[in-house]
Amino acid sequence: MRKQIVAGNWKMNNDLSQTEALITSLKGQTKTSNAEVMVAPTATNLWQANKSLMGTDIEVIAQNMHFAESGAYTGEISASMLKSIGINTVILGHSERREYFNETDELLAKKVDAALANDMRVIFCFGEELADRKAGNEETVVGNQIKNALFHLEAEAFKNIVLAYEPVWAIGTGETASPEQAQDMHAFIRKTLADKYGDAVANSVSVLYGGSVKPANANEIFSKPDVDGGLIGGASLNAEDFYAIVNAF
Ligand code: G3P
Repeated sequence: MRKQIVAGNWKMNNDLSQTEALITSLKGQTKTSNAEVMVAPTATNLWQANKSLMGTDIEVIAQNMHFAESGAYTGEISASMLKSIGINTVILGHSERREYFNETDELLAKKVDAALANDMRVIFCFGEELADRKAGNEETVVGNQIKNALFHLEAEAFKNIVLAYEPVWAIGTGETASPEQAQDMHAFIRKTLADKYGDAVANSVSVLYGGSVKPANANEIFSKPDVDGGLIGGASLNAEDFYAIVNAF
């Protein structure tokens, strides 16, 4: 049975007091599904958020990290630094990092390697642009993103990999992929994994959908056979909406 996961990507939102206020609201929510719950505050709030959520069933995760262990990389954070404050899972490859910070598949492969070398779990993001989908190239684009950043790995490594399909045209736009579009792409992703690593690995990896998931559409998307949960942006900044999604299985 694959893990069901709902992760909240807070992006660059919430200062320390706002983080504490949201965490207090999250603690007041009730989980009625079997989903693993994660939240990704900004780096400045990771330590406090982890302390505040210690002992709860909410895992605090990072939004990014550098591939180096240490050195002359001003402003960056390493995997071992995240581990040192109790952070064991990191989001990598988000489309906003690819777009705004020029993160390439090759760079992301190095980040994935560094995270795995530090025994971290990776939520690896990928997804096509609207132009790719209009041209019918969405599977080629997604397939290349996965192969270029992950297919150097041994099968064993996938026990620490969660995949997150986030069509760029659905992120922050309210233009959610239809449940059928999500299922079609998730099935393609699982076949791509199976062709390389076999069915056992392909069927064990959780594949999340991200892109305008809301309380109103989550259940229909999560009900699809190859969708194992969601990576949630805007709706994760409201505790009630976030838990409506957490419970939408
Ligand atoms: O990482 C999740 C994010 O990209 C989705 O954002 O606001 O469309 O749920 P949103």
